[in-house]
Amino acid sequence: MTTTHPKKAQSAVSVKSFPAPKQLSTVTDLKPDETQQITEAVNPLIADLFALYVKTKNYHWHLAGSHFNDYHKLFDKQADQTFAAIDILAERVRRVGGTTIRSISHIGHLQTIDDDNNEFVSAGEMIRHLMEDHQHLVQNQRAAHQVCEKCRDVATASLLENIIDETERSKWFLFEILQGMNNTD
Ligand SMILES: [Fe+2]
Repeated sequence: MTTTHPKKAQSAVSVKSFPAPKQLSTVTDLKPDETQQITEAVNPLIADLFALYVKTKNYHWHLAGSHFNDYHKLFDKQADQTFAAIDILAERVRRVGGTTIRSISHIGHLQTIDDDNNEFVSAGEMIRHLMEDHQHLVQNQRAAHQVCEKCRDVATASLLENIIDETERSKWFLFEILQGMNNTD
């Protein structure tokens, strides 16, 4: 006889990231409105980084074809870099007094990058999807950077500058691989 664990019904996502409960309202000289704007600008970036991390790993695991070795390694490296940015941004939200990502359903609610649940994706399509996702992410990161600057949060803005640079680096690699596919084959 097999035992199964009944699934809990997923309640509609209603995670409130601001204001934080009293115990989590980190003391700050920022105004409540500034903390709110920063929290609401940065949390979707974190959700997108989670979504991109899983998608990049998905492609790392389900890759096929003649470029397997190169792309398998590239995707792993890019996934590690994406993952590293998550904690950096989440802890910034906490330092300025907001709360951050709580769950997979919270990520699903905030993410703006599409998941890819297709049974098979060609290597070329993987490169194209990831390039477009990085491009999309960079636009949102730049917009959040402006919000942070406007709200006097120079530290988050500064960290975002490094994250934007790394996102653009990954985008550049993917873009050049795409150029090779379009021009030579
Ligand atoms: Fe691996």
